[in-house]
Amino acid sequence: MNFQWYPGHMTKAKRMMQENIKLIDLVIELVDARVPLASRNPDIDELGKNKARLILLNKADLAEDRKNDEWKAYFEGRGFFCVKVNSKKGGGLKSIQNVIQEACQEKIERDRKRGILNRPVRAMVVGIPNVGKSTFINSLAGKAAAKTGNKPGVTKGKQWIRLNKQVELLDTPGILWPKFEDQSVGLKLAFIGSIKDEILQVEELGAELIRFLYQVYPGVLESKYGIEKAEDPYVSLNRIAESRHCLVRGNELDAEKAARLLMDDFRNGKLGRLTLEYPEQM
Ligand code: G4P
Repeated sequence: MNFQWYPGHMTKAKRMMQENIKLIDLVIELVDARVPLASRNPDIDELGKNKARLILLNKADLAEDRKNDEWKAYFEGRGFFCVKVNSKKGGGLKSIQNVIQEACQEKIERDRKRGILNRPVRAMVVGIPNVGKSTFINSLAGKAAAKTGNKPGVTKGKQWIRLNKQVELLDTPGILWPKFEDQSVGLKLAFIGSIKDEILQVEELGAELIRFLYQVYPGVLESKYGIEKAEDPYVSLNRIAESRHCLVRGNELDAEKAARLLMDDFRNGKLGRLTLEYPEQM
């Protein structure tokens, strides 16, 4: 399998990130709580050095809560502030303002010593595509302040959203490029939809997800679709097709449609709250 994120987009995204990061005090990095490491781009550690750092475990509603807590402890143990968030429903957003203050305490102190009082902390939201950056900005700002579905490299004049007296947020999120040296990271990103489906055949992706879930969540597919486990994931896809009446040409099983249904169910949390990587494996 061969994954690639368009190199032109990557260069533009990187350049924009380097420009914008100069303007801010705090990096608010969104990761997908189902795959908190695979959905990071570790280059942000270099780009954001000397900045206060906050990691948000977004889509926490789609991941196991016990694992969310373990990941929170994992990141806190590495010096990041960390909050579990559901940007879609607004969960966890209230506590963020306080955490922002805490994360920027050093800068506020520094300002105070220099006689600068009440200068708002400036923050920027960053993350790889589809982790929920625009949804988060919209929810936090309480209005349609940022368009969802942002494209890398598209920017207008810089706009700041004033969250309160102390905090301003850049209205355009910084788009990080997905990074994967090994195939398992690429696969996890494809599972959550951060790598475009066109890059992989959906049947192949569905079969990989089945293989993966058999290992980490045995029984989930069987109970969701009322099917028996098969050794071959392609047989399982056909069983899903059978149970969900995915048919072509009248009566042939449509494994592609079944794979699409499976991916949608997984991405929308209809298979339950599933976490695909655990801190103890890292
Ligand atoms: P991006 O800017 O980082 O690229 O992500 P964006 O906000 O466009 O969000 C990508 C998808 O993730 C959207 O779904 C959005 O609704 C969903 N999302 C964002 N945050 C959360 C969260 O905390 N929990 C859950 N469950 N979903 C979240 P979509 O399918 O593109 O659109 P729609 O289904 O909302 O219409």
